[in-house]
Amino acid sequence: MAADMDNNPSQTPTTSDPDPEPHPASASASASATPAGARATGPASAITTVDADPIVAEERGDEGDDGDDGGDDGYGSDLESSATTSISSSVRDFTFENNRRYHKYKEGRYHFPNDEPEQEREDMRHAMVLHLCGGKLHLAPLDKPQNILDIGTGTGIWAIDMGDEYPSAEVVGIDLSPIQPAWVPPNVRFVVDDGEARWLEAPNSQDYVHYRNMAPAIKDWSKMIRQTFTALRPGGWVELQDLQWSYCCDDGTMPPDYGPVRMASYIRQGLEAFGIDMHASDKNEHRLADTGFVNIHQRLMKLPVGTWAKDKNMKMVGLYNRSAIYDGLQGITMGPLTRGLKWTKEEVEVFLTQVRRDLMNPQIHAYIGWQSIWAQKPYNVKS
Ligand SMILES: C[S@@+](CC[C@H](N)C(=O)[O-])C[C@H]1O[C@@H](n2cnc3c(N)ncnc32)[C@H](O)[C@@H]1O
Repeated sequence: MAADMDNNPSQTPTTSDPDPEPHPASASASASATPAGARATGPASAITTVDADPIVAEERGDEGDDGDDGGDDGYGSDLESSATTSISSSVRDFTFENNRRYHKYKEGRYHFPNDEPEQEREDMRHAMVLHLCGGKLHLAPLDKPQNILDIGTGTGIWAIDMGDEYPSAEVVGIDLSPIQPAWVPPNVRFVVDDGEARWLEAPNSQDYVHYRNMAPAIKDWSKMIRQTFTALRPGGWVELQDLQWSYCCDDGTMPPDYGPVRMASYIRQGLEAFGIDMHASDKNEHRLADTGFVNIHQRLMKLPVGTWAKDKNMKMVGLYNRSAIYDGLQGITMGPLTRGLKWTKEEVEVFLTQVRRDLMNPQIHAYIGWQSIWAQKPYNVKS
């Protein structure tokens, strides 16, 4: 695999996730926490209105909840004729917990909220990644892509930008939550669906499949990568961009009890209770290779926490990063810690006061790793 690190550490970094002591109030719980559309119309350049409702994929009646029927990922001609259906009210419903709003469709699958504050945070992270990547929406070398799939599209901000950048492509964003805007470029549409269920895209139909910030969401990455491989045309690309969720420091200014480190560890433990590996991106290179992908490339970069970096662009990235963490503290902890580790809402709030204090400490030069990995389906693969 080719790998490059744009802002390589000059020294061996201190890494986080020391697996801290369980929160006092969660001792017993932490023990149990171990492993466990619309089609648009109109000109591409002007944003035009579309049917207000997103569309939802057809319910699959022949499989278990995880969508794994044990077959060859289930592609069949009968599926291709009725890929989507009108959105039903249950798909548009939300559920509320600890004053935050969550998705209702396939309730409980994703442990982070989908309300306005969370959407603003996701959009801020989009801006952050663009700053980090010099304005590029993707690092895979795309050549006039026609069919682009965004799994876990969130607010749809990346899909909309891609629709603008590639006006001749059709961009489809899939998400459990119907939180995407109705005003989108005409070549962009959104589908409410579970990306972990059996895919409805025809084999060999996609030029590019994109995942961003999906490590804390997906249970079975091997299956996702297999489905991606099947859906891609020979020569098509997959790209996975994710935070590495470890806090690091190159100059010794990060104390061992740094609040965000402990927070990340608790989130990891909470997600583990649901079979989700927050550090899944560490293994993607092997998963891609094992599935048959070739031309695997990786770029590793650093996201400063706060404005301590000298470089002007990195200062901006750090500001975005810290704001996204600070503003999102409740959202990123509440689900994993209350659902997974059985903390109370009040215990989470008390814990977060230390995290807030540490995050705003300008003396601590912490950063988080960010990874993009992209790989190609071989041209000579048998379909
Ligand atoms: C952290 S957000 C990332 C959003 C977007 N990729 C971005 O980077 O702006 C994760 C999104 O994935 C969605 N999601 C989680 N699990 C999913 C699944 N199994 N199928 C489809 N979407 C899923 C969530 O609803 C949420 O909108």
